[in-house]
Amino acid sequence: MYTVPKLEDFSPAALDAAAAELLAALVAESHAAADPRSFEEFRNRWMARKNGVLTQVNDLWLKAAPSPAKRDVGQRVNALKQRAEALVAEAEQLAATAALGSKLKSETIDISLPGIERPLGVRHPVLRTLDELISVFVKMGYSVAEGPEVESDYYNFEALNFPPNHPARDTQDTLFIANQEQRAQRDRLLLRTHTSPVQIRTMEKLVPPVRVICPGKVHRNDAPDATHSPVFHQLEGLCVDTNITFGDLKGTLDHAMKSLFGSAVKTSFRPSFFPFTEPSVEVSISCPFCGGKGCRPCKQSGWIELLGAGMVDPNVFGFVDYDPKKLSGFAFGMGVERLAMMTYNVDDIQQFFYGDMRFLEQFA
Ligand code: DAH
Repeated sequence: MYTVPKLEDFSPAALDAAAAELLAALVAESHAAADPRSFEEFRNRWMARKNGVLTQVNDLWLKAAPSPAKRDVGQRVNALKQRAEALVAEAEQLAATAALGSKLKSETIDISLPGIERPLGVRHPVLRTLDELISVFVKMGYSVAEGPEVESDYYNFEALNFPPNHPARDTQDTLFIANQEQRAQRDRLLLRTHTSPVQIRTMEKLVPPVRVICPGKVHRNDAPDATHSPVFHQLEGLCVDTNITFGDLKGTLDHAMKSLFGSAVKTSFRPSFFPFTEPSVEVSISCPFCGGKGCRPCKQSGWIELLGAGMVDPNVFGFVDYDPKKLSGFAFGMGVERLAMMTYNVDDIQQFFYGDMRFLEQFA
C-alpha cells in the first residue's frame, strides 16, 4: 500500500515524480472503494485530519521544503488536495449507488403473495331501510327536509297542538336538557321525541303546496328491550295543498306499503289519536310473511301495525299561518327500525346499535 515518502530532493522533476506516484495510488484506491464500508476506509485513510495521507503530505513535503521550494511545493500539494476531494466525492456516489443496487437485489418481490384485504364497509341496515323509504316517496314527488335533534318544547309539542301539561305529552317520554328552569316553557330544549317538529319548521318556511318527508333520529326516555330503544329513527311525511282528502292519505300510504312489501300487501286504517291530526289513524299492513293467515311476526292476527297518520289538525295550521279554510293536508310517521326488523327478519332492535361485526357483516 502507498506510503508518503520523505523528500530529500525538492527539484521540480523530483516533485513531479512524487506527485505522480501519489496520484496513481489515489486513483487506484478510489476505484477499489466500491461499497459504503470500503469507501469509509478510503476516505479516512486519505482525508483524516490526524495522519491521513494528505496531512502527511503537508507535514513531510510542504513543511519540510526549504524556503525557495515552498511556493512550488505548496501549489502541487493544493492541486493534489483538490484532486483527492473530487475523487472522494465521486467514490461516495458510486458506493451509494452500489449499496442501493444490492438492497434492491435482496428485496425480491413475491407477486404470488396475497395482499392485505381491507374490507369495504356497507350501509347500516337501518339507513338502508331509510334510503329505500325515501326513494319510494321521492318518486311520488316528495322532497326531503331535516331538522335539529335538540329541539325546543315549542316545535316538539306546543305547535303540534300538545298544550302545556296536556296528558298526550305522557305518550312520549321525553329527555330534557338540564338547567333550563329559568327559560319560558316553550323555549326549553329537549331531545326531539319524534320527527313531527320538522312539519312545523317546513311549513314556517314554505308556501303551500308542500310535499316533504323528514327522516331522522329521535329520542325517548325508554328502557331498552327487544322492541324499544332510547334512540331510534323515524320517517315523517307531510302533504298540504288545496283539496287534500283522506282518500289521498289512504292512496299514498297504500302505494308506499305496496312498493316496500309487494303489491299483494293490503293496508288497514283504524281510528286513533294524535294531537296534531284530526281524524287520526293507525295504519296496519296485512302480514307480508304469512299473507294474513297468522304467524309469529304478526302475533297470529294477520296484520302488522306500522304507522301513525291523519289529516293535519286545523289548529296546527294556525301555528304556521296557513289558512285552514283554504288548505288541507295529511301527515304520517313511522319507525324505521320497526320496518328494518321486518325486512331483515331481526328479532331484537338492540342489534342495530351494538355495533357487533358478526351481526353487521350479514348485510355485506
Ligand atoms: N309523531 C308520531 C309519533 O312519534 C307519529 C305520527 C303520527 C306522525 C301521526 C304523524 C302523524 O305525522 O300524522 O308517535
